[in-house]
Amino acid sequence: MIIIEKLTKVYGEVRAVKKLNLEVYSGEIFGFLGPNGAGKTTTLRILTTLTKPTSGCVWIKGFDVITQPLQVKGEFGVVQQHLSLDRELTVWENMELHARLHHIGGVERRRRIAELLDYVELSQYANQIVENLSGGMKRRLMIARALIHRPKLLFLDEPTVGLDAQTRRRLWELIRRMNLDGATVFLTTHYIEEAEALCHRVGIIYQGQLIALGSPLELRQQVGMTTVETLSDNKDPDYHYFSDRAAATAYVQSLPPEVKTITTRDSNLEDVFVELTGRKVGDD
Ligand SMILES: Nc1ncnc2c1ncn2[C@@H]1O[C@H](COP(=O)(O)OP(=O)(O)O)[C@@H](O)[C@H]1O
Ligand SMILES: [Mg+2]
Repeated sequence: MIIIEKLTKVYGEVRAVKKLNLEVYSGEIFGFLGPNGAGKTTTLRILTTLTKPTSGCVWIKGFDVITQPLQVKGEFGVVQQHLSLDRELTVWENMELHARLHHIGGVERRRRIAELLDYVELSQYANQIVENLSGGMKRRLMIARALIHRPKLLFLDEPTVGLDAQTRRRLWELIRRMNLDGATVFLTTHYIEEAEALCHRVGIIYQGQLIALGSPLELRQQVGMTTVETLSDNKDPDYHYFSDRAAATAYVQSLPPEVKTITTRDSNLEDVFVELTGRKVGDD
């Protein structure tokens, strides 16, 4: 679905994306996971033709993003990180504006808007002014809007940022449903849990570079499936990784008494990130 080769973007002194190579497969939910400033939005903006790369190539469904932007635009829908709805218009009017931009007219327009509002469970709010909607509803409206031309590829930039846990889970359900209905999804996130729960494959991006790639399980296996956290006086916890529980238990039993707090647990993508970078995803 997407092929990225040696993609680089430089802003003055800042190298936002460095020689990124990546393929996104048709039918998957792909997660681009990384901390703030890692280069996620820059990459997504290049893939969606909004920003020109400094060098490198991108193809979407075989179309060259740089030389064939018009063809490429017809293939995907995109939901930007920041809310970009017309707040003074109603839900329906926002959909209608977008449909007109895509030259979808007449009965077909009404039919698609009704269908999509139903899909994202906003039908009953069709005549509400957008300003009065909750954050989760606005996100769902942006998703419905991005689907108006029936793209088979959807880009979502930090789709659940700022939403409460329950609303986030509801959006995950919607993303899973779209994927089951045939859409390939490329999303960015700095939430470990989101990448782990939602994505078939995850690429970890750090300082503009892809530092790990695989399914959540494959990535956890790379660092070790079991993590032991130890704490010695007033220091930050130390993390130790083991292939399984037995190896972790043997290690814990060998520890001297001054090592105080010990937690043995399943490894997660945070551990993968810590192991590869020496810091946490949430740190700025
Ligand atoms: N338009 C721009 N001009 C200058 N620097 C930028 C611009 N956009 C992004 N950057 C810089 O590029 C880096 C990557 O940013 P971004 O892609 O927004 O990261 P993320 O989405 O992962 O938080 C950051 O250091 C950011 O400050
Ligand atoms: Mg961003």
